[in-house]
Amino acid sequence: MVKTARPIGIFDSGIGGLSVAAAIRELLPNEPLLYVGDSAHVPYGGHDDQFIRERAGALADFLVDRGARAIVIACNTATAAAAARLRERLAIPVVGMEPAVKPAAAATRSGIVGVLATAGTIASARFAGLLDRFGEGVEVLTEPCPDLVDLVERGVLTGDDAQTRVSAHVRPLVSAGADTLILGCTHFPFLRSLIQQEAGAEVRIIDTGAAVARELQRRLPADESAAQEEAGIELFTSGDPERFSRIARRLWIDAPDAGPLN
Ligand code: DGL
Repeated sequence: MVKTARPIGIFDSGIGGLSVAAAIRELLPNEPLLYVGDSAHVPYGGHDDQFIRERAGALADFLVDRGARAIVIACNTATAAAAARLRERLAIPVVGMEPAVKPAAAATRSGIVGVLATAGTIASARFAGLLDRFGEGVEVLTEPCPDLVDLVERGVLTGDDAQTRVSAHVRPLVSAGADTLILGCTHFPFLRSLIQQEAGAEVRIIDTGAAVARELQRRLPADESAAQEEAGIELFTSGDPERFSRIARRLWIDAPDAGPLN
C-alpha cells in the first residue's frame, strides 16, 4: 500500500497565498499541499488584529485536523497579527512571512526603498521592528494598496483597470527615488509584470515567496511516508468554492476544484 505524506498546510486571507504555494511547489515538488483561503473575510488589511488572530486560529485548526505537519502563513498581514499566538499554541512548525526589508536595504543604491503592502502590515509592530533592525540609513516609503488585493481576488491581472491602479501606487514611489520595491503582500507577485512595467526595468522588485519556501524546507519534519513523485494541491475556501476555483485556475495551472471550509 502506498502511504501519502502528511501535507503542508498553507493559509491566506484569500487567493494571494497561492504565490507562496507556487514557490513551495517549486522547491518541494513531492510535498502534498493543503491550501485554505479565507475568502469570506478578505481583505485582512482592513480588519483588526483580534479578528485576524481568531480567523488564523480557525484556519490553522482546520489544517491541523486534516493532518498538516507544518503551517505556512502565506500572508504578511496575518503573520504580523497572529504568528506569535499560533506558535505558542501549535506543536508543529509555523512559518510566517514579512516584508523583505533586510534584502531590500542591502540591494538599494539610491537609499530609497518602497514597500507595497496592506495598511495592517504597515501599521504593525512587527514591521516597525523590521525597520528598526534593518532600515538604518535607508529611507523606506510605505504604500498601502487594498485595491491591488481586490484586483487579484477578482483574477484581474492585466488590462487598463489593473494598469491604472498599479501605476497609481508604483509611480509615486519611483518618482520619489525608490530603486527597490518590496512586495509586502502575497497577492502582489501575481501583478509583478505589471508592477515591473510601471516601475521600469531598472527598478528591483523583491518578493519573499522563495525565501519562505527555503525556511519551510529547513524546518519541515521528515515524513517517512513521503512520496517520491510529484504531489498535488488541495484547495479550500470559506467563500464561494465555485468562484474560488474559477479564479484559482487563472493563477495555478490545473488547480483542482476547491472545497468548502467546514
Ligand atoms: N495576502 C495578504 C498579505 O500578504 C493580505 C491581503 C489582505 O487580505 O488584505 O498581507
